[in-house]
Amino acid sequence: HGFPRPPLSTDFFLFPHVFCLYQRRDISSWLDRWFPKAPAKSVVALKTPIKVNLVAGKTYRWCVCGRSKKQPFCDGSHFFQRTGLSPLKFKAQETRTVALCTCKATQRPPYCDGTHRSEQVQKAEVGSPL
Ligand code: FES
Repeated sequence: HGFPRPPLSTDFFLFPHVFCLYQRRDISSWLDRWFPKAPAKSVVALKTPIKVNLVAGKTYRWCVCGRSKKQPFCDGSHFFQRTGLSPLKFKAQETRTVALCTCKATQRPPYCDGTHRSEQVQKAEVGSPL
């Protein structure tokens, strides 16, 4: 005879608050890992812009972090590499060919403004921040 074994360790019944705190810390560290508070720096993906044909009314996601393998557009690397950065979403107003920035240093993203020709970008290594 005797009592059946409790389904959880007796500690859980004696100190449930400890378990809750433990779990909460676990979740917040998971969140910190995947959504870092301080964003990483963008890296130079390429040193020349890419010409693309934009279609009027279509929405595009321009890679901000420089880590995408599908430049100049986002491939989700900003998330999987936990950069804390997000792509720039924009809608094409008209159908036309534009040069989109890949050095990620343009002053008018997502468009190339010629900054890739600067000494700073030319001296930088591809895949590294400026
Ligand atoms: S992969 Fe660079 S912003 Fe998404």
